[in-house]
Amino acid sequence: MARRCLSIILAAGEGTRMKSSMSKVLHPVAGLPMIRHVARAAAAAGSSDLSVVVGRDGAAVEAAVRQEVESVRSFPQHERLGTAHAVLAARAAIAEGVDDVLVLFGDTPLIRPETLARARQVLAEGAGVCVVGFWPADPAGYGRLVEEGGELVAIREEKDATAQERAIGFCNAGVMAFAGSDALAMLDAIGNANAKGEYYLTDLVEIARRAGRSVRAIETDTDEVLGVNNRVELAAVEALWQDRRRRKAMLDGVTLQDPATVYFSHDTAIAADVTVEPSVVFGPGVSVASGATIHAFSHIEQTSIGPNVSVGPFARLRPGTRLAAGAKVGNFCEVKNAEVGEGAKINHLTYVGDATIGAAANIGAGTITCNYDGALKHLTEIGAGAFIGSNSALVAPVRIGDGAYVGTGSVITDDVPDDALAIARERQVNKPGRGREIIERNKAAKAARSNSGGAA
Ligand code: UD1
Ligand code: CA
Repeated sequence: MARRCLSIILAAGEGTRMKSSMSKVLHPVAGLPMIRHVARAAAAAGSSDLSVVVGRDGAAVEAAVRQEVESVRSFPQHERLGTAHAVLAARAAIAEGVDDVLVLFGDTPLIRPETLARARQVLAEGAGVCVVGFWPADPAGYGRLVEEGGELVAIREEKDATAQERAIGFCNAGVMAFAGSDALAMLDAIGNANAKGEYYLTDLVEIARRAGRSVRAIETDTDEVLGVNNRVELAAVEALWQDRRRRKAMLDGVTLQDPATVYFSHDTAIAADVTVEPSVVFGPGVSVASGATIHAFSHIEQTSIGPNVSVGPFARLRPGTRLAAGAKVGNFCEVKNAEVGEGAKINHLTYVGDATIGAAANIGAGTITCNYDGALKHLTEIGAGAFIGSNSALVAPVRIGDGAYVGTGSVITDDVPDDALAIARERQVNKPGRGREIIERNKAAKAARSNSGGAA
């Protein structure tokens, strides 16, 4: 039978070094609040129950996590008396009797589900406690993992460590798994007689051993357990996240011509055989189907891109855009809340907003859908196979029929029937000889001015 697992995410930190009006754990990495990354990893590692321990901004933190895991419970920690004290804020959740308890930090968003699953596996094999360790370049400030014969015997906090213990390079990453059955008794046994006067969760190691339980440490990469305390570290974590995602995309069959310049969102769905040119930003909610090419300098949010679509260079796709197979959105085009049919082309300098465009329609350079009247947004419908001449303004609400043709430079205010030609501009007038007359008159005026000594 599957073991029931409770994850407790500690997020009562002050986070003052972020210099932010928002709680630290709500700052986004890849467009998703840090704490949601942690909650997502816990869920992916099979954790069925989730609790968060919150300080200031508790309601906002809870609301963010609830978008990830609906059943989340939050527990306030009113005084910050240490990591064990924080875990005990979630006493009611632990008391429900779970098999595994995972403790995670809300400001460590790169933790991988695989690592959490490995820690749980150690518990499944009979250990009472499993600690995730790592080898930081500089161990200063971390709890040192003191091992004897493959068993973890203690975690010594920097301030309480002897010189010999301080020489240990293997450190506590902060992620801990322990058996739920006797957890509360052991957590309650933790005191605060140490250098910081705090209730250290790390004391659980020695307490569990005294109770005859086996305790083990597993190892993970430094990258994965990087914590965020300021915005320099936030950027470092973002960079690591992006690197990981780019690598995954490439290994999944996506060509990234200059990977370091492509930015993904936490939820970007990108198929094999997509090519992404340099300097492309994927905002939230983007999916790209196979065979599509995203040309350089494109910015895309909440858009679905069909097979063999071509986007950009310099395209901006805004929320609600859906491009069907083989459609094309070219340079300096903006598309918002629009359904673009199969093989339709919007190639140059165009704004399409609140529109449906039929299959194989051709939208000429500089076309604008005038969707906003200063108060309300209106819909433009363009039929299949329609042709919109360059520099036309389509004043919504308006419908251009299937196979209709709009003459260049038109301002279309009335519906155009299927197959009709609409021209909505002044007719051209040619005046013989008048052009030369104007040019000569202007040149004469310029000459007269320089003869009278007046400059320019
Ligand atoms: C802790 C570990 C240390 C480990 C390090 C990894 C303890 C005693 N020490 O030290 O072994 O190497 O993390 O980064 O556990 N928190 C609360 N309430 C509290 C105290 C902390 O919610 O009362 C939260 C913080 O928001 C933070 C996390 O717990 O996310 C860790 O707390 P912090 O004070 O940063 O612990 P460290 O001293 O870094
Ligand atoms: Ca810390």
